[in-house]
Amino acid sequence: MSLKRFPNALNVSSKILGEQLKFPNGRVAPNRFMKASMSERLSTYSPEDPKKHGLPTEKILNVYDKWGNGQFGMIITGNVLVDPTNLEDAGNAIIFKEGDSSERRSLYTQWAQKMKQDGALAIMQISHAGRQTSVKVNPTPWGASDIELKTDPPGSRYGKPIALTTEQVQTEVIDRFVYAAKYAYECGFDGIQLHGAFGYLLTQFTSPTTNKRTDKYGGSLENRNRLIMEIYDEIKKEIPESSGFLVGIKTNLKEWQDEGSSVEDAKFFCEAYEKKKFDFVELTGGTAEKFKFEHERESTKVREAFFVEFADA
Ligand SMILES: Cc1cc2nc3c(=O)[nH]c(=O)nc-3n(C[C@H](O)[C@H](O)[C@H](O)COP(=O)(O)O)c2cc1C
Repeated sequence: MSLKRFPNALNVSSKILGEQLKFPNGRVAPNRFMKASMSERLSTYSPEDPKKHGLPTEKILNVYDKWGNGQFGMIITGNVLVDPTNLEDAGNAIIFKEGDSSERRSLYTQWAQKMKQDGALAIMQISHAGRQTSVKVNPTPWGASDIELKTDPPGSRYGKPIALTTEQVQTEVIDRFVYAAKYAYECGFDGIQLHGAFGYLLTQFTSPTTNKRTDKYGGSLENRNRLIMEIYDEIKKEIPESSGFLVGIKTNLKEWQDEGSSVEDAKFFCEAYEKKKFDFVELTGGTAEKFKFEHERESTKVREAFFVEFADA
């Protein structure tokens, strides 16, 4: 199959892409090329045997050996899940307390080493799928509220989520994210990226479509963003500042489903992340209810950077 390419309308210098990128905390990426997160689904799937569940395989180490020799400035893993029962899909890499072992630590350490061979910063994306857990994996995943994702026919791809209680937000979400971030640090990763995009659990809290809560995590923009801020604060307590460990986030600029987050919401969230001193923010948009990767407008086809107008805002 041949892919159709669109010519770039502007002839601009790409020189800056080869220059170093210095983060405010002093960490340096050797250049501006970033390999974005792409779910590998190349880890073991063994829910009955926690010790063997979500272990990185030789196939992952092999593919990151290639990327790690690709002279990237920064390499981000595909989504690594923090709850073995709430997966984006079977085959995800998972980090969870119940599954800790020397074998798991060794495999994640090797993974980080493969990524860093050419000097790239090795970033692990950590995520919780919530209501976007495949129904084959779990028909009753967690959610910010019990709002099921619309599919045709209903329930064919995702089950009805169970709303987390305020206490469970701590034990089932915050504690698990913090555990995974610390694990990444101990295994030699240079940082983590919270997956706060595409409708996964963190987005289920920020989005009015899925957050109908009446506790401190629901209602105002500040309340909907509270979970992410608390995760950040607790990660910072666990990992020494002097290590230069990076904490970033991938966030939605806009959602297109009913009551989806707006660009105004995204501006509020991004200002909060900047104030909190997140090391980087990656901008994107859409959810599994309505992705927007299609080329709908002629101007977007020419430009290719789908979200650039929203990012400007
Ligand atoms: C096969 C594949 C798997 C992906 N898996 C992830 C993922 O695990 N985490 C994530 O944040 N994005 C994932 N993405 C999305 C990309 O990182 C990226 O956001 C997307 O291609 C759109 O680009 P944009 O965000 O620059 O608009 C995936 C994309 C593809 C093509």
